[in-house]
Amino acid sequence: MIKVITYGTYDLLHYGHIRLLERAKALGDYLIVGVTADGFDMARGKINVQQSLMERIEAVKNTGLADEIIVEEYEGQKIDDIRRYGVDIFTVGSDWKGQFDYLNEFCKVVYLDRTEGVSSTDLRNEREIRIGLVGESSTVLNKFAAESHFVNGVKIVGYCSLDPTQFSEELQHLSVKTSDISKLIEECDALYVVSHPSKHYEQIKLALQNKKHVLCEAPIALKVSQYDELKQLARDNGCVLMDAIKTAYSTAYNRMNLLVKSGIIGEVKSVDSVCTSLSDLESKKGKDLTNTWNSICAWGPVAMLPVFQLLGSKYSDMQIISHIISENFDTFTKVSFVYPNAVASLMVGKGVKSEGELIVSGTKGYIYVPAPWWKTDYFEVRFENPADNKRYFYQLDGEGIRYMIVSFLKAIGGGRNCSYIGGDVSEAMVRVVDEFYNGKIERI
Ligand code: CTP
Repeated sequence: MIKVITYGTYDLLHYGHIRLLERAKALGDYLIVGVTADGFDMARGKINVQQSLMERIEAVKNTGLADEIIVEEYEGQKIDDIRRYGVDIFTVGSDWKGQFDYLNEFCKVVYLDRTEGVSSTDLRNEREIRIGLVGESSTVLNKFAAESHFVNGVKIVGYCSLDPTQFSEELQHLSVKTSDISKLIEECDALYVVSHPSKHYEQIKLALQNKKHVLCEAPIALKVSQYDELKQLARDNGCVLMDAIKTAYSTAYNRMNLLVKSGIIGEVKSVDSVCTSLSDLESKKGKDLTNTWNSICAWGPVAMLPVFQLLGSKYSDMQIISHIISENFDTFTKVSFVYPNAVASLMVGKGVKSEGELIVSGTKGYIYVPAPWWKTDYFEVRFENPADNKRYFYQLDGEGIRYMIVSFLKAIGGGRNCSYIGGDVSEAMVRVVDEFYNGKIERI
């Protein structure tokens, strides 16, 4: 009996896949199909896959061509499989020509002609979401546009900005360039908002009233009442309103979250997160800082993310201590939370520098995420006995921005918000910011 093996992702199974499987089957008597695991695809940069592993396996099964289906989970597994299953022929499409010649040592390698004119990528690109960019931060917007190229089914159509002078070549060539947000809204399906937080409420409201989806750099609003109104408007109009905190979409951060929730460090007693970045505030002395992101807005939501995701949003007490240099502009803020069974603290600063680490302390051990923890691909679980320590590494491409855009599109496509940031977490972030502006804070 001649055993043949082939591998693929088989997302949105199409004619090209079926033709390949038919010809693979015809090469022998028994066909094994390896379907890639979600995590394996993510790790090798295939971030756009729409269907889950089970859905893709089901689709391959329904072709009736596979005698056996296996899951491909790690780099180098093909060699193991060929030996394990006694495979005679390995085959894939000609788009891989030459790349698997090293398998000739273990079995015969056959490249089959790829079917022209169809691919999963094309199918994913069929429905295109047109995104408009809103704001003045060239660094953030230039990166967002560059990262959008890694995402299927999205097109940046234009921007609305009061200061586009530092925008990249790419942005300068967009078709809509305006300072009037309603003009941009007319031309797109969704907005990515990075304008100063004081403008978020009005801009988001206008977008949602026009039934456009919104991805907004947190905080979504400066007042809880405004936030609740926007959330309701989004619901009423069937729109997605999502926080743009890239850390939330990184695999390492998510796995850390899941590990903690599954009890690896016991009961969480403290979450301590620090996010700082020195910016040139000296040159701005005496100038109007109302359009500059202060520390609590620029860093607060990121620093709050693990606090609210791990301990929930129902703290019993909160204290905010800030160093303020001009009206509402904090160069440094420390927030302490008291929960019924735990505490948390965060330190954010644009005029103070510190070690940007995240520590989650539990009754059995602790999590250590080294600086800068908000763009991490690595963390450690540490115990009393260092021999028990565990290290975790997960690929992080594009600082998580491309994963965030993929999540936003999935939320739009699926009609459900797949954002990893729950509504209660998002609202709790706004509540702290609201307290900073309108409540009681202590000053140092
Ligand atoms: N394949 C093919 N003809 C196509 C598309 C895919 O013969 N038009 C083959 C590939 O060469 C591979 C198998 O089908 O052997 C599975 O490919 P996969 O990567 O899952 O599909 P693509 O459509 O190429 O996916 P993507 O666009 O995401 O790269």
